[in-house]
Amino acid sequence: MNNIDIEHFSIPLLDWYDRNKRDMVWRDRMNPYYTWISEIMLQQTRIEAATGYFIRFTEELPDIQSLAQVPEERLMKLWEGLGYYNRARNLKRTAQILMEEYDGRLPADYDKLMTLPGIGPYTAGAIASISYGIKAPAVDGNVLRVLMRYLRCDDDISKMSVRRRVEHMLLDVMPERPGDFNQAVMELGEVVCIPNGAPLCEKCPLMDSCQARAAGCQEEYPKKAEKKPRRIENRTLLIYELDGYIGIQKRPQSGLLAGLYEFPAVTEKLTMKEVREQLERQGIVNAKVSSMGAAKHVFSHVEWHMKGVYVQLERAFERQKLPPNVIFVSKDELSQKYALPTAFRFYLKQIIEGKNEK
Ligand code: ADE
Repeated sequence: MNNIDIEHFSIPLLDWYDRNKRDMVWRDRMNPYYTWISEIMLQQTRIEAATGYFIRFTEELPDIQSLAQVPEERLMKLWEGLGYYNRARNLKRTAQILMEEYDGRLPADYDKLMTLPGIGPYTAGAIASISYGIKAPAVDGNVLRVLMRYLRCDDDISKMSVRRRVEHMLLDVMPERPGDFNQAVMELGEVVCIPNGAPLCEKCPLMDSCQARAAGCQEEYPKKAEKKPRRIENRTLLIYELDGYIGIQKRPQSGLLAGLYEFPAVTEKLTMKEVREQLERQGIVNAKVSSMGAAKHVFSHVEWHMKGVYVQLERAFERQKLPPNVIFVSKDELSQKYALPTAFRFYLKQIIEGKNEK
């Protein structure tokens, strides 16, 4: 890995940022709470999508104190659709620690920030630099891509050692405005030095000193070790309905989508005949059964290949044949009260729109 310097890297980059930085609702308010929440959201989604979530979240939970007190179910609902729900739980845990140990404020100290649940080097660096003007690097995937291209560096960006070296390099050339500098590198990666295909080099303030560009091989960077293929899990969702109420259950408190709600499911793909047989074994013989089609949802390590079956229970007593943890809720409650992961959106939409009513 070669090196970067202030004259060719930091100065043109900050200059570009000053002229091109995008409006973001949480920017320029110098509110550490806003920086924290927005940075965690941005680890999961793009700025356009994060904006709506951020507004909703901070309207209801305007400060650390309100976050520390929010009921878990409400927190999950506010986070619904963003994924990685443990990150939301960590927000609340950290808010509680801040109330108890830090006077209800985020500490202006990188090392102390790092001790808080859900705050790693990236988030600690972002909060420290953006909200408190502390010289600390904040290296995310965008930053790594920019640097690997700029230096034409073949190192594997999934390695922690590479990230550490990039952090040191950036710290060495960090100007007096660390928050703007960090955001400038990220933003360059998001809008100019873009992933998956050709970066927009002609718009880049670093184009004259970028080594990958000089060699015409910018699309070959960054290099990353092949990931293990995702495990595929087949699921047949049984979407029970009784008099307009829908059956859902809470997932276990740990593991994938912990504590969120789901439709009861069998972890294999059943034919309609097999679904009927399964229902009969449970003592449900009068239900009307119809297909809701197939859908796929990709998580980081697993893919769900789903098939939805709408099971209209004819008789109230059949509800007793279902496991006791299945609760029946109205369609309004389903969309407004219970946090249902995005994985089920395809089916939820059909239910809400009443496509399956006979
Ligand atoms: N991506 C994540 N956080 C960002 C920030 N603060 N500015 C620009 N891009 C970002």
